[in-house]
Amino acid sequence: MTEMLNIALPKGRLGVKVYGMFAQAGYECPEVLEESRKLFFENADKGVRYFWVKPSDVTVYVERGACDIGVAGRDIILENEPEVYELCDLRTGVCRMSVSALKDFKDDPTRTLKVATKFPNIATKYYSGFGRDVDIIKLNGSIEIAPIVGLSDVIVDIVETGNTLRENNMHEIRLVENLSARLIANKANYEFRRTQIEKLRNALESVIA
Ligand code: PRP
Repeated sequence: MTEMLNIALPKGRLGVKVYGMFAQAGYECPEVLEESRKLFFENADKGVRYFWVKPSDVTVYVERGACDIGVAGRDIILENEPEVYELCDLRTGVCRMSVSALKDFKDDPTRTLKVATKFPNIATKYYSGFGRDVDIIKLNGSIEIAPIVGLSDVIVDIVETGNTLRENNMHEIRLVENLSARLIANKANYEFRRTQIEKLRNALESVIA
């Protein structure tokens, strides 16, 4: 009998959408969607075991081989830079990483720019790309508050609808990267279980198409 595939799904709205794609691809496990505090589910007939993982931790589970495959936002992949294979773009969870500021912000390129973000690695790389002197301030959420209270000049953060920015009197000033959810695989496990993983990837790709 083939071994079960361990799959890390990002807990939350994106994960529910992504699970829907796996189910449509023939890897359903209806218990996943039941309201409960349970975090793992399996469908032995389909050979899959799903785990609800904090979105920013999916790359950790997959990189270390605790899960064979997983779904992570491109933002998390760029921030954590895990040693994993990126197998396909699931074309969901589409959003962008942008630099945003208050509407009346005027940049002075001779000054160090204070940047608040949940993504210090992405922000550091972005600004070092054009040699700008920055002071990166790592926050864990509600980043839009930082410029309002003078903690930072700008923020590097995810924008989806733009509503959060609008409602806080801010706007995007630069695009850093377009983002979406990606299917990732542990490198060693992928080699061992290529047939199983490729079958799943192909089924997902026909759902996307
Ligand atoms: C994310 C992001 C923005 C917001 C963007 O925050 O950090 O604040 O969503 O979405 P929008 O453009 O559709 O308004 P999230 O809701 O994950 O909460 P957080 O502030 O706690 O990170």
